[in-house]
Amino acid sequence: MVDATVVVVDVVVEVDVVVVLVVVVVDVDVVLVVDVVVEAVVAGAVCVTGGSSGARVVCTPTLPTSVSLVTSTDTVPHAAVDTMSTRSPATRASRAAIDRTVPVARLPVRSPTTDNLSRVSGAASSAAPAGRYDNHPFIQACRGLPHDRVPVWFMRQAGRSLPEYRAIRGTGTILDAIADPDLSTEITLQPIRRYDVDAAILYSDIVVPAHAVGFGLTVTPGVGPEVERPFRHEDDLARLRPLDPEADTPYVLETVRQLVAELDRPLIGFAGAPFTVASYLIEGRPSRDYANTKAMMFANERLWHALCDRLADIAISSLQSQIDNGASAIQLFDSWAGSLSPAQYQRYVFPHSQKVMDAIADTGVPKIHFGVTTGELLPQISAVGADVVGVDWRVPLDAARERVGHGTSLQGNLDPTVVFAGAEFACEAARDVLRLNDGHPGHVFNLGHGVMPAMDPDVLTEIVKVVHEEGTVRS
Ligand code: CP3
Repeated sequence: MVDATVVVVDVVVEVDVVVVLVVVVVDVDVVLVVDVVVEAVVAGAVCVTGGSSGARVVCTPTLPTSVSLVTSTDTVPHAAVDTMSTRSPATRASRAAIDRTVPVARLPVRSPTTDNLSRVSGAASSAAPAGRYDNHPFIQACRGLPHDRVPVWFMRQAGRSLPEYRAIRGTGTILDAIADPDLSTEITLQPIRRYDVDAAILYSDIVVPAHAVGFGLTVTPGVGPEVERPFRHEDDLARLRPLDPEADTPYVLETVRQLVAELDRPLIGFAGAPFTVASYLIEGRPSRDYANTKAMMFANERLWHALCDRLADIAISSLQSQIDNGASAIQLFDSWAGSLSPAQYQRYVFPHSQKVMDAIADTGVPKIHFGVTTGELLPQISAVGADVVGVDWRVPLDAARERVGHGTSLQGNLDPTVVFAGAEFACEAARDVLRLNDGHPGHVFNLGHGVMPAMDPDVLTEIVKVVHEEGTVRS
């Protein structure tokens, strides 16, 4: 028991739903804003754990004002100026009263006892009927539900490391290949056949929607996305009209439909998050420091938010159309968000990624959210609305779990470069990842970032075998 003041700022009780906003004042310098959403009333106390602080709060759903802090650590990430939408006017007013200069963290908090229930019944009941792959280990792991083997897939599993990819890819840009549904379907299926991974990821790219609305970009082999006239001014907004997926990217949807017809396992749809796509449009090519991007967000915040709002709408249309055509899960790639501090992320990025996640929440499909070097951002990446948080190799899985809360699933997090050390070393490293996860049902095995072109596919095959044969899932 630590010395702390717990203030229940707002309690909203609806039929079968209790929403509690708790502010925990640990000492004069540390304030945790714990936004608790319990989507099923259960008998007895609800225990919620919060983020990297390790704060644990116990409350009784029917008597939400009786809250006591039973454990806490005395360090809290200097995460966020809290700019998020809140759930009631009372909450909003209370939040506005919080001193915005105090380090504040909005911690994603779920009850271990109710979370699994809420993630299935809460998410799915209001939306899609029971999905075709609801009992598949990949979907179950995304939801933190019991399943019989650790699921595994690899980011960038479809692509240049596969000789069969190079054989059929052709000489045009990847945008040409994506525009051919038969070819894209075949490329998506290649890693399924070779590795027997548990999910397929659509062969496409995060810049396809911006290309399709005519922004003017290409993807240069060996370099990445390149823009002829980078986004600089207000006028450039006109180059980002809304995406009409059926009219603008019919080939993507045809690929999704073909895949859904052919696959015997879940298909992951995806989109680029507003920040990462904006970074390509503003920089004009891949960047190390994101200097132009950050200069715009700091110096012209209004234009930055206008740009990200458009990119959020484009991502929403794209994701929704992939789900409508049969994608069983989605991943929002914010690959380069790790270039931001937690406060920068909260102010300039969080609201836009949250808008995307909120917009597709009703579909009920699991939402994965991934970025590289996001160790300091994990609580926020999770709070955006992710069911699964992608973790790179820099944060051990057990530490990551503390940071996002035990109710959120994790994806990752084998250092991709171990593959270059050969099968024996890579498989031992994969076992280390499994050991750190310790059988937690909320784990999708993956690399901490994508497959690289020079990797030996046979090593990846061995890793899949180790995960499937040796991974354990606690019930
Ligand atoms: O297998 C899969 O993961 C599915 C297909 C996929 C591609 N790109 C195919 C691709 C996915 C999910 C993406 C997402 C993507 N694209 C991201 C987020 C994922 C990440 O790795 O962080 C990003 C940042 C991009 C932008 C992009 N497109 C880059 C950096 C590159 C690589 C440039 C190069 O050639 O090294 C691309 C091109 C690209 N996208 C390739 C592939 C297979 C390689 C180009 C080719 O085959 O011509």
